[in-house]
Amino acid sequence: MKITSIDSICCIGAGYVGGPTMAVIADRCPEIVVTVVDSNEARIAAWNDPDLSHLPVYEPGLDDVVARARGRNLYFSTDVGNSIASADMVFISVNTPTKTKGLGAGQASDLRWVEACARQVANFAKGHTVVVEKSTLPVRTAAAIKAILEASQQKPLCDEPSPTFSVLSNPEFLAEGTAIRDLEDPDRVLIGGEESEAVDALAQIYAHWVPSGRILRTNLWSSELSKLTANAFLAQRISSINSVAALCEATGADVREVALAIGTDTRIGSKFLNAGPGFGGSCFQKDILNLVYLCRHFGLPEVAGYWEEVVNLNTWQQHRIASLVVQRLFGTVSGKRIAILGFSFKADTNDTREAPAIRISLDLIEEGAQLAIHDPKVERDQMARDLNQNERADITPSPEAVLKGEGTWCFASTVQGAVQGADAVLILTEWNEYRLLDWKELAAKMRAPAWVFDTRSVVDSVKVAESGLNLWRVGEGED
Ligand code: UDX
Ligand code: ADP
Repeated sequence: MKITSIDSICCIGAGYVGGPTMAVIADRCPEIVVTVVDSNEARIAAWNDPDLSHLPVYEPGLDDVVARARGRNLYFSTDVGNSIASADMVFISVNTPTKTKGLGAGQASDLRWVEACARQVANFAKGHTVVVEKSTLPVRTAAAIKAILEASQQKPLCDEPSPTFSVLSNPEFLAEGTAIRDLEDPDRVLIGGEESEAVDALAQIYAHWVPSGRILRTNLWSSELSKLTANAFLAQRISSINSVAALCEATGADVREVALAIGTDTRIGSKFLNAGPGFGGSCFQKDILNLVYLCRHFGLPEVAGYWEEVVNLNTWQQHRIASLVVQRLFGTVSGKRIAILGFSFKADTNDTREAPAIRISLDLIEEGAQLAIHDPKVERDQMARDLNQNERADITPSPEAVLKGEGTWCFASTVQGAVQGADAVLILTEWNEYRLLDWKELAAKMRAPAWVFDTRSVVDSVKVAESGLNLWRVGEGED
């Protein structure tokens, strides 16, 4: 096989990874035609919306990149078959959630979408096609993709020569909220593959803007495992600092001071040491559980147990936050209004997958609380789906409902509206606007004695104290 040049790319999956990644590739490689396809018509329509504020993914800077490339060499389409047929390189960037039933349920990745993609590529590809795994996949998935593609090579459907394929792994390390920056200036690009021509072809695309020293080449399995391991290490740091935060609260230390003190050790480093309500997002939990499943599968139960604790600690931290809110509000939140500030799993994204806000809100609703939830980017329908219940109208509950302990939630379009009549404010996402709140103004709207629970260390503690509110901050012990 001879790969001459890559003139046309198809990316299957127009989600949080596929959309921004392809937008940046198209922006940086104007000579390559990049088509992002998705079976979800509404999603493609949103990517094609002339109003860039309607893009289906919110990422700072994404609108500018799309504005430059869309219609020039970047296209969004539902025509999966034709896009594959005309592509020299196909990226697979579809969802790989944790399986909910069957073998490996709760831990293994559900590969049905990846497999469907491989079959589509096998059906429609023409000539030689480089297939690139972009989705995070369990180790040795490339083998499954290869097997499906190779089966199609043996069964030509017409007189045309059978298509041929190279399979590469090119995991994406972008973080949501900083996706464009991460893509434009990555720490590294990782390409796993056995066929050097195919690896070179992909490396040449990134070389348009990434220094060659940052383009790493490994074998397929190392590349797949590196992605899982990177996420496991990052998540492990968060569980580690959250475990120390609980100890700080119990002993009178301050986790921010501890984080600063240990983070200045260059061997440890200062990043990813922010204690909080636990990690969320589509990757960390899923990837660790995947790793756990692999370790068990390969007869390494001790290794599996080691990584599983990172997830267990995270779940514990989320329940712990809900419990301590209840405890401080005199042991009951039944009928009490609590303003939840922030529902996305982190700032600068509208993504709520595995957001700590979901578990914490559900715990408080279970305790009978009346939640008023505000988020600058998450829509009320998304909250309803995540909480698996419709919102109630924003009215004061009847005394009977309070006594029955029925918890509910409503959407609040402003912070001021959320805190009106509230007994507590619970900050769960570090949106910048929450750093700038006028606590005197908000305290006047609340029912005393009122509390601020700051799980992200974003508030100015002096200003909160001056407003007469009680403050709890994650990892801050009482002197
Ligand atoms: C992560 C990885 O960072 C990225 O490389 C990979 O490609 C996908 O998974 P993402 O999930 O988008 O990216 O966000 P990230 O910034 O890593 O944050 C994950 C979670 O950890 C968030 O809930 C965040 O609030 C939390 N977090 C992060 C902390 O609680 N403390 C920290 O110090 C850092
Ligand atoms: P990620 O965060 O990994 O980007 P998302 O769930 O945001 O994941 O996006 C994955 C996208 O892939 C979804 O929009 C889904 O509709 C699309 N998708 C999944 N399977 C296929 C398929 N076989 N053909 C086309 N699109 C697909």
